[in-house]
Amino acid sequence: MRHVFVIEGPAVLSGDVTVTGAKNSVLKLMAATLLAPGRSVISNVPAIADVRIMCELLHRLGCGIDYDAGAGTVAIDVPEAPGITADYELVRLMRASISVLGPLVGRMHAAEVAVPGGDAIGSRGLDMHQHGLEQLGADVSLEHGYFVASAPNGLRGTDISLPFPSVGATENLVMASVLARGVTTIENVAKEPEIVDICEMLVEMGADIEGIGTSRLVVTGVPGLRPVDHRCVGDRIVAGTWAFAAAATGGDVTVHGVELDLLPNVADKLVEAGARVEPVVSEDPAIAGFRVIGPSRPRPIRVSTLPFPGFPTDLQPFVITLNAVADGVGLLTENLFEARWRFVNELSRLGARVSIDGNHALVTGTDSLSGAEVEASDIRAGAGLVVAGLTAGGRTEVSGVDHIERGYEHFVEKLTQLGASVERVEKPDTVIP
Ligand code: EPU
Repeated sequence: MRHVFVIEGPAVLSGDVTVTGAKNSVLKLMAATLLAPGRSVISNVPAIADVRIMCELLHRLGCGIDYDAGAGTVAIDVPEAPGITADYELVRLMRASISVLGPLVGRMHAAEVAVPGGDAIGSRGLDMHQHGLEQLGADVSLEHGYFVASAPNGLRGTDISLPFPSVGATENLVMASVLARGVTTIENVAKEPEIVDICEMLVEMGADIEGIGTSRLVVTGVPGLRPVDHRCVGDRIVAGTWAFAAAATGGDVTVHGVELDLLPNVADKLVEAGARVEPVVSEDPAIAGFRVIGPSRPRPIRVSTLPFPGFPTDLQPFVITLNAVADGVGLLTENLFEARWRFVNELSRLGARVSIDGNHALVTGTDSLSGAEVEASDIRAGAGLVVAGLTAGGRTEVSGVDHIERGYEHFVEKLTQLGASVERVEKPDTVIP
């Protein structure tokens, strides 16, 4: 049996929705707890499948795990000597598993982490992770599908300059260098809010990091770190998903848990599309957020994805969806992942008119899409197809919901709360006699 989301469109989303912690932060925060023996507690944890995978990975490394999905907390008891091997069985389920590499080499001076393969959005190299660790003094080789890293005398500070501000490489190298001897300078680092969150947690654990939120981090190694209680930053990609869903359906949605400063270029593009965007101010981070009032029909927008503070690649499917129902011709240029177009083929099944030329998607808006059966190829593509189904007339069936559930908590419930007609339905697998 498999599950599909069945959407009856069109829908106009309206109401309030709360966004919890960022997938792409919490997984790394969990990995970072490996740097200090003792009990760390992370709060504002989203109830998503990837958190459960990271719990299992840390459990297999010898950590005690107490995950309360309802309360949104995970307590991790890190032993004095955690294991050093992350098996392919788990790594293949989730690329973010690679983020245990830096903490393990930093603290245990050794790690064996399966190499995650490419995936549906592109080849996704790891050369910067490997090269950076080598510069910090580790020997890193690829053996039988595993990165095998060792630094018997510990890591030592060095100067690293990343050829591209890779999110994952920045995180791994910062987590590796906090316990290194001496000073590590990392130039051209990624500045995503999730990186800031990880650096802030490391500082709360006793790390010495300067330049947080800039392109240059200076890490002065310390002999040891202590466990921590830390609240994960809100998920700006999930917040952006709701914002685009409101704009594309002509809805009125108030998003809590993520403030507009985490979505610098996104708010501008929503306004260009004809939406009104207003901040919701509160001292309480779970309430602060913003409201998006969608236009009756969006204007097309031109977007180029870039590292933060540029427009996030993870919101790309929502831009294409919005342009697909806009009044005119829009353009999306993808600069981070070469193969993020599988989504476009599926969207075309709903009647979207998209032509791809290299890394550009030219979209000619139509006044209505028509519901169809489609398949999610990754988390954001899946959520994008759901949003497209909300704008379309009739029934849309999205399969591959496992992808969506890796990154969106209680998605069907939240959509229903906003007035959409969406169900999660069990379907028999196709059997070829
Ligand atoms: N790259 C290399 N070599 C490296 C590292 C990266 O060539 O050593 C290339 C990649 O192949 C890719 C580009 O650099 O073309 C960007 O990769 P980056 O390392 O910045 O991304 P990532 O750490 O693999 C994270 C998020 C992605 C998000 C990107 C970009 C996590 C778990 N994943 O991936 O999120 O798209 O940053 O912002 O943090 C998602 O949530 O759906 C998702 C795919």
